[in-house]
Amino acid sequence: MSTGVEVVTGIAELRRRCDAARASGGRVGLVPTMGALHAGHRSLVRAAAARDDLVVVSVFVNPIQFGPQEDLAAYPRDLAGDVRVASEAGAHVVFAPAVEEMYPGGPPRTTVHVAGLTARLCGAHRPGHFDGVTTVVTKLCAIVGACRAYFGRKDFQQLRVVEQLVADLNLPVEVVGRPLVREPDGLALSSRNAYLSVEERTAARVLSRALFDAAARLEEGVRDADELLGAVRRHLACEPAVRPEYVELVDVDRLEPLTAVDGSTPMVLALAAHVGRARLIDNLVVDWDAGRPRCDLGVRVGPSGELQRVAPGPAS
Ligand code: PAF
Repeated sequence: MSTGVEVVTGIAELRRRCDAARASGGRVGLVPTMGALHAGHRSLVRAAAARDDLVVVSVFVNPIQFGPQEDLAAYPRDLAGDVRVASEAGAHVVFAPAVEEMYPGGPPRTTVHVAGLTARLCGAHRPGHFDGVTTVVTKLCAIVGACRAYFGRKDFQQLRVVEQLVADLNLPVEVVGRPLVREPDGLALSSRNAYLSVEERTAARVLSRALFDAAARLEEGVRDADELLGAVRRHLACEPAVRPEYVELVDVDRLEPLTAVDGSTPMVLALAAHVGRARLIDNLVVDWDAGRPRCDLGVRVGPSGELQRVAPGPAS
């Protein structure tokens, strides 16, 4: 492959590459992924390439974070495409281990559990999911060593859980959260969007539309949590193809439900819904500036592929 990126499948070899980079004064950046790389992943790799000397993109469909009824077998896999995207975005190494390399004796006997933060939102609907995530992220950090690790804010709960994991276990890792990336029409990018039929893809737009509308209501002065949540739920109910799993308003630190919007507590309005066989998530993060909301809906891919900040307001 003439991509300039090196594909490494062995743990010992990856460790050697990372140790060598640090020994010569370089910084290592890690972008953990399950492959099927899209513009969201590309933006993470670019962010790493702008700051770090050795950029490692891991591509590993981690079996222990999937429930028995979930889509492990169907999850999209395209290593050649991933290597191309990672290379174009500035990665130096794609780490693509086999399951046997990561879990040689079958599922690991040691797992990592972050209490509290994993109990709500996606954690409440995907038992064991976050233990699988935190276990594999801990392993990747142990293999790569001191590094910056980049995660997208679409998986807001995952980002918070990983930040807590790194703090609690004193891992030598700086966690970098990066903006959620949307399609031009607002749909949050996800490898699982590939499961959507044309009709389902159209219906799925309601997820971001509901959040854009919630941001507009906040900007207009709405401060009632039930009113915001009710409006989002009504949007979702308009699309028969969309089966909501949860719509919640929580604080960004503990991910505990908020009953009131007090104009100072940073919060996230998070939702998950099934559309066809895809389970999709999306969110709106809200910070406050002297009582005024600063709504973060991420960025969207513009006409020439550039990323543009999404402004609150009705979806286009
Ligand atoms: O976000 C993902 O793709 C996965 O959960 C991660 C962080 C790569 C762990 O498998």
